[in-house]
Amino acid sequence: MQWKKVAADRSALSHKVGYALRNPGRIPGYLKRAGRDTWLRLRHPDHISYYRAVMRHDIADGPEAAVGSTTHERWLALGQMQFDYLVSHGLKPPDRMLDIGCGNLRAGWRFIDYLDPGNYYGIDISPDILIAAEETLARQGLQAKLPHLAPVRDLRFAFLPDAHFRVVHAHSVFSHSPLEVIDECLAHVGRILAADGWFDFTFDRTEGKEHHVLREDFYYRTGTLTALAEKHGLKARFMSDWERLPHGQSKIRATHA
Ligand SMILES: C[S@@+](CC[C@H](N)C(=O)[O-])C[C@H]1O[C@@H](n2cnc3c(N)ncnc32)[C@H](O)[C@@H]1O
Repeated sequence: MQWKKVAADRSALSHKVGYALRNPGRIPGYLKRAGRDTWLRLRHPDHISYYRAVMRHDIADGPEAAVGSTTHERWLALGQMQFDYLVSHGLKPPDRMLDIGCGNLRAGWRFIDYLDPGNYYGIDISPDILIAAEETLARQGLQAKLPHLAPVRDLRFAFLPDAHFRVVHAHSVFSHSPLEVIDECLAHVGRILAADGWFDFTFDRTEGKEHHVLREDFYYRTGTLTALAEKHGLKARFMSDWERLPHGQSKIRATHA
């Protein structure tokens, strides 16, 4: 299976027509989603409120589907992949970690289990998915690890202390974010990142025109995001070892310059 399709422009009419001809069974679902998203965008003009409403609707099909996993096996595998990657890159139990857009703890419960008590912070714009996160935590019997789970309305981290986190992580969050949201995050993450810390984020990569689909999925060129990180005084590099994994997104690591 080809995991990364970096040449496609999913917003182009020719792509949509070709996709519909190859997958006619998906047309009704797409039209329903497009209609719903148009209605939600009219009700919620700013992106964060819009995406929070998308999550609220998607959770009706179950929290695992809402974070993008079509089966429980895939939900488990995606969490394991994130966990194994960070541990192989040096995440240690005494480290403090911030998981931006933690969802229902697909990977988070593994980090919580691994890190010392109180060292995991999960934030998300969706209160509904944070309720599901608490359910995951209880199901895994991890109450004694006392993780922090907090709803947020922006990515300025104003309530978090300076230089606190060795690892900041955002998996499959910027793939749902317009550039101004990513810009805000990169402008503020340096303040809360420890001197030897790193910020890993995944993104949907295109090597063609940058585009979005229904303002739910955003596709960026690597250079756009590394330049944005550098504009905010961070050093950014493309993580080529992540490319070998069976995942549709790519990964960038930002550190203090
Ligand atoms: C595809 S899910 C991934 C969840 C989790 N990172 C994982 O891998 O299982 C994206 C999550 O990011 C959250 N999210 C989207 N935009 C966000 C933002 N600007 N700030 C914080 N959370 C955000 C969504 O509510 C959702 O829970």
